[in-house]
Amino acid sequence: MQRLVILVSGRGSNLGAIARACRDEAWPATIAAVISNRPDAAGLALARELGLPAVALDHRAHPDRAAFDTALADAIDAAGADWVVLAGFMRILGEPFVQRYAGRMLNIHPSLLPAFPGLHTHRRALDAGCTLAGATVHFVTPTLDHGPIVAQVAVPVRPGDDEASLAARVLVAEHRLYPQALRWCLEGRVRLRDGGIVAEPGLERGRFVDPAAG
Ligand code: GRF
Repeated sequence: MQRLVILVSGRGSNLGAIARACRDEAWPATIAAVISNRPDAAGLALARELGLPAVALDHRAHPDRAAFDTALADAIDAAGADWVVLAGFMRILGEPFVQRYAGRMLNIHPSLLPAFPGLHTHRRALDAGCTLAGATVHFVTPTLDHGPIVAQVAVPVRPGDDEASLAARVLVAEHRLYPQALRWCLEGRVRLRDGGIVAEPGLERGRFVDPAAG
């Protein structure tokens, strides 16, 4: 059994999607801990409801970023993590932390990277007149939202979309994408080697889905 540690800061809907897939598809993996830098995060409450070990690690209780990163690494290692899964984790992680989990730490970002790293992705996609939006699962590297891409999903931008409607459409697609991409990594079907992706031939790592079309 591979041990997953999932890091959340907010609502935790991707955590929920991963936990369901892990259980329903009987992955050879277990969620060893869910850790949040926000003690009041809904994602932490969800973890408890799901019966998962939930750890609050308030970043405000640490004097600086390095001290928080050290405490976070201690908590992750105490859980015996094989994989670190960022699911709406809103803290920037320092380089030593990122190097420690190189090749076994994933993130999901709500844009078609390398477009729109950082915040407010949906607003920026709308402002730019994009006709497609989407989400990306990538290995985490020291540069924010820039790591090698495991998988992507594209969804249409519709006339009349606002930030909320577009975010909702992308989120539905995220909930399909993240469990799938994570599972590929757990199974070794997608790996990081020499800073690049090695993927099993034939894997459909990029997809277009239209949630309205079912
Ligand atoms: C998602 O849109 C994810 O792509 C981004 O943060 C959001 C987290 O949502 N990194 P949730 O907490 O999983 O519901």
